[in-house]
Amino acid sequence: TSNQMWGGRFAAGPDAIMEAINASIGFDKRMAAQDIAGSRAHAAMLAATGIVSDSDASAMREGLLTVLSEIEGGTFEFSTALEDIHMNVEARLKDIIGAPAGRLHTGRSRNDQVATDFKLWVRDQLDAVAHALEALIRALLTQAETGADWVMPGFTHLQVAQPVTWGHHMMAYVEMFGRDLGRIRDARARMNECPLGAAALAGTSFPIDREMTARELGFDAPSANSLDAVSDRDFALEFLGAASICAMHLSRMAEELVIWSSAQFRFVMLSDRFSTGSSIMPQKKNPDAAELIRAKVGRVFGANVALMMVMKGLPLAYSKDMQEDKEQVFDAADNLMLALAAMEGMVKDMAANRPNLEVAAASGFSTATDLADWLVRVLDMPFRDAHHVTGSLVAMAEARGCDLPDLNLEDMQSVHGEINASVYDVLGVHNSVASRQSYGGTAPVRVREQIARWKEKLG
Ligand code: ARG
Repeated sequence: TSNQMWGGRFAAGPDAIMEAINASIGFDKRMAAQDIAGSRAHAAMLAATGIVSDSDASAMREGLLTVLSEIEGGTFEFSTALEDIHMNVEARLKDIIGAPAGRLHTGRSRNDQVATDFKLWVRDQLDAVAHALEALIRALLTQAETGADWVMPGFTHLQVAQPVTWGHHMMAYVEMFGRDLGRIRDARARMNECPLGAAALAGTSFPIDREMTARELGFDAPSANSLDAVSDRDFALEFLGAASICAMHLSRMAEELVIWSSAQFRFVMLSDRFSTGSSIMPQKKNPDAAELIRAKVGRVFGANVALMMVMKGLPLAYSKDMQEDKEQVFDAADNLMLALAAMEGMVKDMAANRPNLEVAAASGFSTATDLADWLVRVLDMPFRDAHHVTGSLVAMAEARGCDLPDLNLEDMQSVHGEINASVYDVLGVHNSVASRQSYGGTAPVRVREQIARWKEKLG
């Protein structure tokens, strides 16, 4: 039998393989609520413009609510033969209200319908991701506040560089996730134009009111070009782009947690709630959540690449290729949300090992730059010369297997005669971090300012 939605010109139904490759209901049923919201707005507009009668429109709007409750209640029977969520909903509406259901698709096409549904879905996700990012940022702010003046090594090349504060390190992630939040908000603002009423590709001859449906569905305006409206998936790509960068940030942080929780570092203790054990090694406590978060960026960025490849080279306007947009975005969104929630939980629960961080902060001649700066400031030495003198002192300490503060004044003076005892003040890690008060620097006073700024920003 031929299809009840478009079977007029068909003598035979589809091959089973055709049905299998064509149907999207298996995944686009996730857009049921959006589809029904879009159809209810469309029905109201059809009545307001006199295109359908008020009684037909109210039958549609009521019936659509019944369909929604069936779907939400799990009693709805999805049909693969009906291809997608749009036709499943419409067919069921016909069962419930009869003939008026056949007028719902006036002045509309599945092309603008799917673009509208998907935009509504992505818009909800953008809001959910923004919310999750805010929660993660708050958890990081709490860590930063607790350890605003705790010292730890700062690294470049994963080699000890200069002491920093725990608060400063946490706040670096706040900046990163803050930019993610900005990207998500930008994407939301840009995508908020309604495709509904673009119809198949050219608009419609019915006197529809696109302003009305746009407003009804929470869009800022109807999209301005009907060809673009049905062939645009930039909103999905912007979501995936922002999600990819966010997942990359999560991955970097997860990598640090994996390193920091190792026996060699012991910078943090992850909670039991976000760790797993080993079935053979009784002592093991593994950072599995962090490892999985580290890996998620592969899926999310994979989705981004996949949809870029689907879209490249598509002629205007709609092509069925575009049906491949949804699974990628659904998977990326699900996994990003999971990773954000897991990271928030880990950050909330983790305990920085303050004494260990402090010992580590002083290792690796971390205050060598402070010593060089002292030579410049107190002895008025050009920085390049100071760098050289300090390098010699580091070599001496390294040869003796001690740290810079362990060299006595005679040792120091053997390298440069004018060095005096006040040099020892700058070799301590707390003095070191406290001195770095330049804007954006690691000094606790600056870190606390940034915490306050972020708290105000988040409200
Ligand atoms: N299931 C389709 C999709 O996800 C809906 C649009 C179908 N339009 C069409 N002309 N066949 O893209």
